[in-house]
Amino acid sequence: MLILGIESSCDETAAAVSEISGNGALRLLSDRVASQIAIHRLYGGVVPEIAGRAHAEAICRVTEEALSEAGVTMKDIDAVGVTNTPGLIGALLVGVNFAKGLAFAHGKPLVPVNHIKAHIAANYYEYPDLKPPFLALVVSGGHTSLIHVKSHVDFETVGRTRDDAAGEAFDKIGRVMGLSYPCGAEMDRLASLGDPSAYKFPLAAIPDGTLDFSFSGMKTAVLNTINSMNQKGVSFKTEDIAASFTHSFTASIVKKLHEAVIRTGEKTVVIAGGVSANSHLRNAVGEMCDKMGLRFCLPPRALCGDNGAMIAAQAYYEYMAGNTADTTLNAEA
Ligand code: KG4
Ligand code: ZN
Repeated sequence: MLILGIESSCDETAAAVSEISGNGALRLLSDRVASQIAIHRLYGGVVPEIAGRAHAEAICRVTEEALSEAGVTMKDIDAVGVTNTPGLIGALLVGVNFAKGLAFAHGKPLVPVNHIKAHIAANYYEYPDLKPPFLALVVSGGHTSLIHVKSHVDFETVGRTRDDAAGEAFDKIGRVMGLSYPCGAEMDRLASLGDPSAYKFPLAAIPDGTLDFSFSGMKTAVLNTINSMNQKGVSFKTEDIAASFTHSFTASIVKKLHEAVIRTGEKTVVIAGGVSANSHLRNAVGEMCDKMGLRFCLPPRALCGDNGAMIAAQAYYEYMAGNTADTTLNAEA
């Protein structure tokens, strides 16, 4: 079976073709991403209206490239999967309307895909034997969630951020330190060179018995520290700020993840989303899993950020569960 996956929820226009064999193993035939980062970098973050227009410009070309790289045409495709939620509404609408037109013009089933579920599904390429149930941590520019994955299509969010997402904190702190958007990868590199105990920042793990996070307070504490040093003319090493923030970030995640493992009783932990590329997070969660005797799955770095491959993967499971849509399909912000 061949699935075309289309993604346009934020700042990457992406399309991929995935082949699913009889035993359910996923194989990526093509994976094309048109990144808008260079455009949004000028503004220090994603400008929704510009994102929507850039998706409209790129989506035909990216989809054609994905089909031709896979050596197939629309005739060979069995279903078209598309991200319809969550994301920027103007960005999502481009992919949803494009996929609707494409699917119905070619008489193919249309499969709506939740972007968060798809981030988790990126792991199935790397671990063909990975099967629910398991516990997933999704950390991206827009989300920080602990999700109990009960089946390929049945998910329960057991913890989430109540304000900023983890990636947002990386991007905003990085911006104040003069890094260019998106700042996560550079913050990761700087953190490896700094002293994680140079500053003490509050944890984002809310101490109220829930599995929820709050990154807003942690982010503000870091920004206040930087601003006050700047005002006083105190020099500081960006490496130390990055390392200390990263230390609090990973400690917060590990604290709630540890608790979530105990509460759900799951034996496998999966991480996903753009921030799951962070080397310090990967090490910290890896260590926790070793200590707790858990299996730890992490997506290849190329599939951590937004891509069409993850949409095609989740679309396959949704399609098999009968979750298709008609032309009334809408996008949800
Ligand atoms: O999943 P993604 O591509 O888009 C959303 O769905 O939001 O995630 C993008 C986020 C950005 O905030 C970016 O700074 C962050 O992922 N990111 C990282 C790293 N690489 C990307 N954050 C921390 N460490 C990294 N190595
Ligand atoms: Zn994403």
